[in-house]
Order: sequence, then C-alpha cells, then structure tokens
Amino acid sequence: MAEGGGEGPRGRRINRRDFLRLSGAGLVGVILLGVAGCVGGGQDGRSVNLTFSFFPDRTGSVQKLVDEFNSRNEGQIQATYREMPADSDQHFDQLKTELQSGSGDIDVIGGDVIWPAQLAANGWISDLSDRFPEEERGEFLPAPIQANTHQGRIYGVPWYTDAGMLYYRRDLLEQSRFSGLLETYDEMKDVAKRVQRDSGLRYGFVFQGADYEGGVVNALEYIWNSGGEVLDASAPNRVTIDSPEAIRGLQIERSMISDSVAPEGVTQYKEQESATIFLNGEAVFMRNVPRMYALASDPNESKIRPEQIGISALPVAAEGNQSHSNLGGWNLFINAASKNQDAAWEFIRFMSAPEQQKFRAINGSVIPTRQSLLEDREILDKVPVISSGREAIQNTKPRPVSPYYSDMSLRMAKQFNTSLQGGVSPEDAVKMLQEELTTIVERGQA
Ligand code: GLC
Repeated sequence: MAEGGGEGPRGRRINRRDFLRLSGAGLVGVILLGVAGCVGGGQDGRSVNLTFSFFPDRTGSVQKLVDEFNSRNEGQIQATYREMPADSDQHFDQLKTELQSGSGDIDVIGGDVIWPAQLAANGWISDLSDRFPEEERGEFLPAPIQANTHQGRIYGVPWYTDAGMLYYRRDLLEQSRFSGLLETYDEMKDVAKRVQRDSGLRYGFVFQGADYEGGVVNALEYIWNSGGEVLDASAPNRVTIDSPEAIRGLQIERSMISDSVAPEGVTQYKEQESATIFLNGEAVFMRNVPRMYALASDPNESKIRPEQIGISALPVAAEGNQSHSNLGGWNLFINAASKNQDAAWEFIRFMSAPEQQKFRAINGSVIPTRQSLLEDREILDKVPVISSGREAIQNTKPRPVSPYYSDMSLRMAKQFNTSLQGGVSPEDAVKMLQEELTTIVERGQA
C-alpha cells in the first residue's frame, strides 16, 4: 500500500505523489540526449529533408522533439512534422492513398499498432529486421513488438503504447464519501449517479462510441470485460463473436445511455470530444487513453486540475471477469518508397531512444515502450496514468491481428455504433458480425 493516499475506486490506495502535476519544469528537467547524426548530408553534401507524419499532438511535446532532433543534426538532416487527421481511420485512409500511389513524400510514419500487418503485407513499409536486431527488441514490451512483427520480420519500432483507462473525479468521489470497491460496471453506474446527485455534474460517464476505430476499441473492451471474444484464442481463424458474453458486453455499453449515465452524444464522441467534456468538469467518469491526462495541466485545455483526477483499470461485467484494456499505441515505420532510408532510421532511433521516450512520457503523458522506463522513478512520480494505471497496462489485449483488420474494423464500427444507438439489438449485431467477419477471415485464407 502506498503511503499518504486516498482510496482508489478499485480499492487501491492512491499515492499522493501520483498526483504531482506534470509541470513545465519537467520540460527543462529532462535531458534530451540525442543520437548523434551519423549519416552525413545528402549525396551532394546538402542536408537531407525528412517528413515525419503523425496525428496532431496538443501537448506540443512531439514538435519539441522534432526541433531537438533538427538542432542536433543541423546541416545533416532536417525533419518536418506533417500533421495527419486525429481520427485513426481517416489517418489510415489518407496514408494508404499516398502509399498506394508509390509516393515517397513521407519518410517516417508514426502509425497505429493495428496497421503493420496490412502495411507490411502490401510492401509499403521497410523491413527493419537488420537495423533493429532481436537483442534490442528485447528491451521493448513484448506486445507492441509482436504487433510490429509480420511473418517473422519486424517492420516498426514501438514508440509509445496505449491502454484504455478509467479516469474519475477523485475530489468528487471523496466528497461523496465513496470508499467502497469499484469492480463492476454496475458499481460504476451507481457511484456515477450518487456523485452526480451530490455534485450536480451533468454526466456520469463519457467514452468513445462513434462509428470509427475508437468505437470498436470501446465496444471490444465491454465485450472482453464480459468474457467475450471476437476470434477464438486457440484458433484465430474462427470467429466467436456470436456469444452470450459478447451480447452482454454490448448490452452494458447500451445501458450507459438507456440508464442515463452517459449522454446520447457518446454515440458521436471520439477521444477528444469525451476528454473535452471531462476536462471541462462535466463528467464523473471517463474512459480514455493516457495522453488526455497531460491536457489537465494546461489551463487552456482544462478547467480541472490533475490533482482532481484519479486513474484506474476499467470495470468488468461481474466478479470473476478479468479487466482488459485495448492494446493501442503508436509506432515508427519507414515508407518503403522513401529515398532517405538511413536518415529516416536515424530519426526513429532518436525518437525511440530512452531519453526521448522519457520526455514524451513526462510531457505528453504517454506510456513508454521500453520496459526499463516503466520502472523509472521520475516517470512513476510524475505520470500517474502510468503508476495508477499499471493494472490496465499489464492487462492489455490486442485487436485481431490480420492484414484484413481494417475491413473487419469497418464492419465492427458500424454494428457497434448502431447497437449503441439502439438501432439494432446486441443479439442481432453480433449475429451479423459473426457472418461478416467470417467472410472476411475466409477471404483472407483463400
Ligand atoms: C488510440 C490507440 C490506437 C487506437 C485509437 C482508436 O490512439 O493508441 O491504437 O486505434 O486510439 O481511436
């Protein structure tokens, strides 16, 4: 038990130090040790221009790292951060269009953990197996390494990892004298209602239910945490979504709206929309990724302070169910059509080095992928999503790994969203998905 903390909603003590705010001092405090540029300039002696694509980062910490890389590699390599769409599906579509056309405009791709299989199967990203040997891969968390591996070769370096977390208003739970264990969704709903009554907050719970990848991720967490699966764990070509457990998961998700714990709006919310409501002080609980925590330190982004926020693993349907969080995360790939393979690799080495990962953890509130950093005292003290979210991080579960995942995901996004809106029953939604996903999986085997 940690000293000096309050009781967390899942019955764990909360360490005071976990709530230290992510201060600007961290920016200065972390030393950015760069990887010395050793690829030299372009063939004609001029500096190599690299384009790095990644979604918009509201903390500014990604741009700071790009600037740091550029100042260390002056006259050799200069990188530009090209902002892609915030929504992972739109991001993927835009990237795919570009890669399909054979364009080498983007050199380094900051990409979602669900993409490597498809990008690699199409030959769009470079095989990094020689540059990124197995001993070095061993320093990283196994799950994202596996997600970046396709047919025994590695195609990406895990940059940061993600796990769905339960954010809660620690101050308000304390004011409502909440001290019990919070294990199940039902308990969370009861607490949300009680705190809403006491505090007058508009909403009990917000999450991501829109028709997009994040909606898939949220629904899968309800399904997994009710004991359901999309694919059979021992025979991953067998679809098993049509099960009482998966139905239960979707029923619980829908009940958040029908029991007035969550607003109808969750059917349209993505990560940012739900975070805006929570950070505006309008919701008791929120499911979101760790990076939203960093925004609480910025008064332009948040009306509540980091000290008012608690973090825990996601609830489950019933005692005995295991709490799982979706394995998310972002990785660094090289566009196979880039003319600057060596310079791109230098950039990846810099971005994924321990010092830069630590900088991003502290200033961007993301989970590092290097195992040693998960034990780093300064990170644990300054980034509560990592210390309090340990259970969620340890119990991540990957989405189906397949070159056809994006097709599967589109079907799931539609059915899950329609079920959340009450337009189809959970029973019918999983029945339809059972057929649709089976067709996709079988097409993949043909
Ligand atoms: C986060 C995760 C990513 C996931 C996305 C869904 O960005 O890291 O893996 O696909 O959320 O919106």
